[in-house]
This record gives sequence, structure tokens and C-alpha cells, in this order.
Amino acid sequence: MFIDAGTLDPAGTYRLLVGSVVPRPIAWVTSGISPRPVNLAPFSSFAWVSQHPAMLGFTINRRPTGRKDTIRNIEEDGEYVVNIAGDAMLNDLHASSQWHGPDVSEIDVLGLDLLPSTIISVPRLAGVPISMECVHHQTIQFSPTGGEFVVGRVVGWHIADEVMVDGRIDTELVRPLGRLAGPRYSRLGEVTELPPVPGG
Ligand SMILES: Cc1cc2nc3c(=O)[nH]c(=O)nc-3n(C[C@H](O)[C@H](O)[C@H](O)COP(=O)(O)O)c2cc1C
Repeated sequence: MFIDAGTLDPAGTYRLLVGSVVPRPIAWVTSGISPRPVNLAPFSSFAWVSQHPAMLGFTINRRPTGRKDTIRNIEEDGEYVVNIAGDAMLNDLHASSQWHGPDVSEIDVLGLDLLPSTIISVPRLAGVPISMECVHHQTIQFSPTGGEFVVGRVVGWHIADEVMVDGRIDTELVRPLGRLAGPRYSRLGEVTELPPVPGG
């Protein structure tokens, strides 16, 4: 089957994207500075876009009613935290995508705990293996229907001692989640290690 991308509407394009780019890592983002409540939401259109300085990017789509709380907070405060969940928190991560008004904190709804960040004011999520404190760098809009690509610079890393082995993050101890199409997720499967390729 061949599908000409030019024949697809936004919903059809989305369906192919979420089936083709899999599994996707998930940025579990805390945003918002008091007196606004701390917002929590997952975003799987997520990747790192610069190695040094470390910069992360993810796309925030618009609701018919307007921008999502996360991008409003990020642009207003200029900072946020990208948390990485271990698979034990899958149910909370999934539930945190439910829409709540800007005055409601998903942290309170789900009974989760926060910890202070070190450099920025937005708190990080407790109980996760990795949290990256980020300062907003740029928001890029590629098209009117494509969502907004939010890029931030990592200014600090919090890594649970138990997943750090010999100065490296041990992925098998992190137990990361992947997002598939729809409300479907993958857990870390068998890990295969190959010899390094010269010059690779
Ligand atoms: C695993 C997962 C990944 C998601 N990825 C995205 C994404 O990349 N972009 C997006 O706009 N929404 C994504 N969503 C939906 C948002 O999490 C959802 O709209 C959320 O309510 C946004 O919250 P906010 O309005 O508090 O910012 C995802 C949902 C789930 C469950």
C-alpha cells in the first residue's frame, strides 16, 4: 500500500504518525509556578534535539478551545521539568493526560508528590528515576495544524541513585515506558548488545 501524504487530513496524518514512529519515549512534564497549581501531563512527540547543551523538544497540539495548560505555563514562566517515568507509574502517567481546567492540579487529583527543583522554581515529580530541569528556549510552529514544538535547555538532572551504575544510567533499572498508537504502551523488553562499530 502506498499513501500519498498530500491526500491525508490532519486526523489521518496523525493516525499514520503514531503508528509509524513507535515506541515513543514520554516526557512527563511538570509546569506552573505558584500561585498557579502545578500541572502534570505526558507528551510522547518527544526527543532530544541538541547534545551539548542538552536540549529537549516535544510537540504540544492545540485543543479546539485553545492552547493546553502546559504550553501556557512554559511560555509564562520560562521553565518546566521533564520527568521520565518508570513502568511502575504507568497508570498515573496515563491518567495524567485527562483534561482538567487550569485551576486543577493533576498532582492533587492523582495524589502524587512533588519535590523541589534545584535551579528552577517549578517542582519535579517524586518517585521517578529521572527528572530534567529545563529552561524554555524556543517554540516553533511548523504549520497551522501541526502543533507547537517546544524546545528547552536542560539546566539540571536529578537521577535516582539506584539507577546510576558506574557513572551511567542503567536503562534496565529505569524501566522506561514507550507510547504506541492510542492508549497502548510498551515496557522495556529484552536488551541486545552488539560490539561497537569502528567510527560509528
Ligand atoms: C502517553 C501520552 C502521550 C501524549 N503525547 C502528547 C503529545 O505529544 N502532544 C500533545 O499535544 N498531547 C499529548 N498527549 C495528550 C496530553 O497529555 C493531554 O492533552 C493533556 O491533557 C495535556 O494537559 P495540559 O492541558 O494540562 O497541558 C499525550 C497523552 C498520553 C497519554
